[in-house]
Amino acid sequence: MRYDYFKPISESIFWIGSNDRETDRFEGLWPLPHGVAYNSYLLLGEKNILIDTVKGSFAGGLSEKISAALAGKPLDYVIVNHMEPDHSGSLNAIRAAYPGVQLIGNAKTAEMLKNFFGIGENVLTVADGESLELGSRRFTFALTPMVHWPESMVAYDATDRILFSSDIFGGFGATEGGIFDDEADMRMAIEEMMRYYVNIVGRFAAPALKALFKVRALDIKTICPAHGLIWRNDPGRVIGLYEKWSRQETESGVVVVYGTMYGNTKSACDAIAGSLAENGAGCVRVYDISRCDLSRVTTDIWRNRGLVLASCTYNMELFPPMAALLRHLENKNMKGRHIGLCGTHSWADASLREMSEFVERSKGWALVPPKISIKSRPTADDFEQCRLLAANMAEALKTHSTD
Ligand code: FEO
Repeated sequence: MRYDYFKPISESIFWIGSNDRETDRFEGLWPLPHGVAYNSYLLLGEKNILIDTVKGSFAGGLSEKISAALAGKPLDYVIVNHMEPDHSGSLNAIRAAYPGVQLIGNAKTAEMLKNFFGIGENVLTVADGESLELGSRRFTFALTPMVHWPESMVAYDATDRILFSSDIFGGFGATEGGIFDDEADMRMAIEEMMRYYVNIVGRFAAPALKALFKVRALDIKTICPAHGLIWRNDPGRVIGLYEKWSRQETESGVVVVYGTMYGNTKSACDAIAGSLAENGAGCVRVYDISRCDLSRVTTDIWRNRGLVLASCTYNMELFPPMAALLRHLENKNMKGRHIGLCGTHSWADASLREMSEFVERSKGWALVPPKISIKSRPTADDFEQCRLLAANMAEALKTHSTD
């Protein structure tokens, strides 16, 4: 078997995924500076089983690998853990090559197979907790609804104690040579996994905790997600990280985000950030919302307990890039953070009003005083208010701290 085609996980299980370094934005939204891998797995034996496919534009490569591995033998089953097209997009190509293949999903998968691809035949549905003997292998299926789609599920191979976990435990980043956790640059991998979690899964942190409860009940030796690294060395580490993120356990740091046109709001923010550091508020990160990646700043906000938003007013409304950030944060249902606000304007104080309304709507955010309103350009009194906000934020974080 050609090694450049297949990465062996065991004698009979192979990674046959695709590395996508061509797509600029995942889901049309999220930048991919390190690409992304669509992990597909082929299990050879008494029955030949494919677990998930890859994005449609990579279907040719996937079919070629399967054909080479099977060498004329049939493909018996495809386990469809998730219907988002980055995993299901090659299903029709596989069915065309192997007309007798049976797809395995749940009732919601079956509905989506019809809606996405017009597939209504050779579909076997499983219920939550159901087990199936597929040749010499025994699989147990756990439904994980809304992590992050309604039909999402995971498949546990009791024979090799492998959890095929779909998007759960997945991360951005194409394969950089190694596919296993003991072969990779873990710092980058975990950062990209957290960015994936926060922006793709984070909205569904509560369902994720329910899914993790099911995962914890399994005797897992290896985790094979649908993106990112395979966890064979320390699967407990990634489960622990997912639990921490899903419980929204934060660190004692502050993210400062500003929206500015001519630098006046920025100068207030630099004063706030400087005073935060002087007051020992932990790690401080400063972002210009017009120039930063929304997924990166949102990940840092998820990680840290403190947030300061400072924005100018634009056309009698909140500065548009800041409005986009607030809409994204509101979608994430974040809780347990401390927030400070600073609005600037020259004749209509819309930015502070809209940011205040966001805090009121969001619940779970504790407002740190004072709310600062600056007219045109910060005065000495305004800078004093900035220092007071920073001191209060540092104090709130110390009081809250469980680090
Ligand atoms: Fe990786 Fe939800 O698809």
